[in-house]
Amino acid sequence: MSHNLLKGKKGIIFGALNEQSLAWQTALKCHEEGAEIVLTNAPIALRMGEINKLAETINAPIIGADVTKMEDLEALIDQSMAHFGGKIDFILHSVGMSMNIRKGNPYTHLNHEWELKTLDISAVSFHRVLQVAYEKDALNEWASVVALTYIAAQRVFPDYNEMADAKSLLESIARSFGYHYGIKNKVRVNTISQSPTRTTAGSGVKGFDGFINFSEAMSPLGNASAEAFAGYCVTLFSDLTRYVTMQNLYHDGGYSSTGVTQPVVDKMASE
Ligand code: NAI
Repeated sequence: MSHNLLKGKKGIIFGALNEQSLAWQTALKCHEEGAEIVLTNAPIALRMGEINKLAETINAPIIGADVTKMEDLEALIDQSMAHFGGKIDFILHSVGMSMNIRKGNPYTHLNHEWELKTLDISAVSFHRVLQVAYEKDALNEWASVVALTYIAAQRVFPDYNEMADAKSLLESIARSFGYHYGIKNKVRVNTISQSPTRTTAGSGVKGFDGFINFSEAMSPLGNASAEAFAGYCVTLFSDLTRYVTMQNLYHDGGYSSTGVTQPVVDKMASE
């Protein structure tokens, strides 16, 4: 059911690769709530073609951009403003990639060239997007920018590997840029720390099945789904959360505040 929470708003959504993607579900929900969307992803992801289905469903143009390239991001912002006929109200950064995870390098034996690539794609890119928008004065007052993160930025999850460091940097950028953009244009910048979710990026983490089941057992409400994420994200893009900024917001069924749950205690006692 739509509440028209985003009626008249215009937004850019990064990172919809397939139906499982957190960005895909968010694009559907934003559309349902009345927003106009521009979809973007890396050229290589566009070549896979799945995003065309989403674009048709929500009647959105697709503009390719590699988040590590300033010129791509500049063109994306220019073309989005031309398409919308004005400024932008929200941006979702739902982008992450680690070559060390893909190739199975443990945290204690990283390829540091790849590590820099991970930081560039998964964290510095968020600064780039914000800086391009800031310098082009592309966002309306009270616009809302959200990036996706994970609790491995605060606590150790050994197989989350170098992505933990990328997420720490990402969260710090949200805080720092949130200050400057708040002063300049009342623009809000937040990160949402999401439960483990079965997506292409998520499932790439070693031992993901154990990881997601443990998290389910440790969350009083259970793991939050991609659809639930989309709903939460809509609230942050809406005018109902105007004074929320520079925050890392947990969307995790209570996981981050839980020391242990009875099912986990029972399981340990039976071993
Ligand atoms: P996904 O694999 O569907 O999305 C990752 C996206 O990043 C893909 O669309 C990919 O094409 C894009 N991407 C990679 N390199 C890029 C580049 N150079 N330029 C532009 N786009 C690029 O997976 P998911 O899970 O939806 O990931 C979205 C975000 O959510 C990531 O930041 C991830 O770390 C975060 N997250 C995921 C969780 C999970 O368990 N799935 C939990 C918490 C956060």
